[in-house]
Amino acid sequence: MGQKYLLAIESSCDDTSASVISKDGILSNVTHTQLNHAQYGGVVPELASRNHLQMITPVVDQALKQANISKEELNAIAVTQGPGLLGSLLVGVTFAKSMALALNIPLVAVHHMHAHILAHFIEDPKPDFPFLCLTVSGGHTQLVIVKSPVDMEIIGQTIDDAAGEAFDKTGKILGLEYPAGPIIDRLAKEGSKTIDFSKSKMEGLDFSFSGLKTSILYTLRKKQKNNPNYVKENMADICASVQSAIVDNLLSKLELAIEKYQLKEIAIAGGVSANSGLRKAIIDLAEKRNLRYYIPKLAYCTDNAAMIAQAAWYKWEEGKTENQHLVANPRLEF
Ligand code: KG4
Ligand code: ZN
Repeated sequence: MGQKYLLAIESSCDDTSASVISKDGILSNVTHTQLNHAQYGGVVPELASRNHLQMITPVVDQALKQANISKEELNAIAVTQGPGLLGSLLVGVTFAKSMALALNIPLVAVHHMHAHILAHFIEDPKPDFPFLCLTVSGGHTQLVIVKSPVDMEIIGQTIDDAAGEAFDKTGKILGLEYPAGPIIDRLAKEGSKTIDFSKSKMEGLDFSFSGLKTSILYTLRKKQKNNPNYVKENMADICASVQSAIVDNLLSKLELAIEKYQLKEIAIAGGVSANSGLRKAIIDLAEKRNLRYYIPKLAYCTDNAAMIAQAAWYKWEEGKTENQHLVANPRLEF
């Protein structure tokens, strides 16, 4: 057979994305981000699934076009099976199953969080196994030992909010739009850390962000009693303080894991790995401890189908394919 092509689809939350991969790597990566959730302060599941329905065909068409291939040339279809929003996942899974059936080609199911980690294998330099990955997204915060592309172990995770949620919920308190992570990141650059929010008392390698959220809420309430314009007048400093508190929390657990498992390579993945404070802190930590570090390109931090394609490529190579009984699973196990 000549060149082999796999089409991957991602629709787990509010991004509709499609990507084509071959043995030469990613040939296209097209993402439509839904902007209509901002006014509601978070993703509205019903709106998200309807929007995926509208966008999936044009996004897939565009991905095939950019890769310069026709759908008849595809050799496999991959899709995010979970975790995510059920209605959103259903659109991608149903679309992928229909296409696999119509073209009579294999179907590959991908775990969204595995894919965030495997985004590191899209381009050079690639990590060596085993490595330690801090995966931080809107729904998950995990410390993972990555032993191979298909063998990963969670050694710590959040017991309440995810890091992305901590950013987004704080943003809501501050009156910022959803998703607030990138806005806090931008504003933090104009300010400096002036407030010490209470630290997480969580023992071991698990994370907790709910205490921080409460601490932010009460601290700001107290300040606003003396000055009703406190938040408005100090927005940049508040953002810098919040970002520093979240990053410190993540870094302290990462350091603990490095010491416990003695791994020489570290990586970050997921939407929050786009955060400039976290990216800088990882570089500083790696230099201090003489570790090799991997930080994804911004395009591969937040949700995208290129990472799904990369993860699927490994599974497909191992013959791990599915049939028409595949079901979307919002709580898919790691
Ligand atoms: O991985 P992702 O795109 O979707 C999920 O799988 O959840 O992550 C989205 C999360 C949101 O919570 C968003 O606020 C956060 O990533 N995020 C950021 C930044 N860019 C995205 N958080 C902090 N700083 C950023 N620059
Ligand atoms: Zn994600």
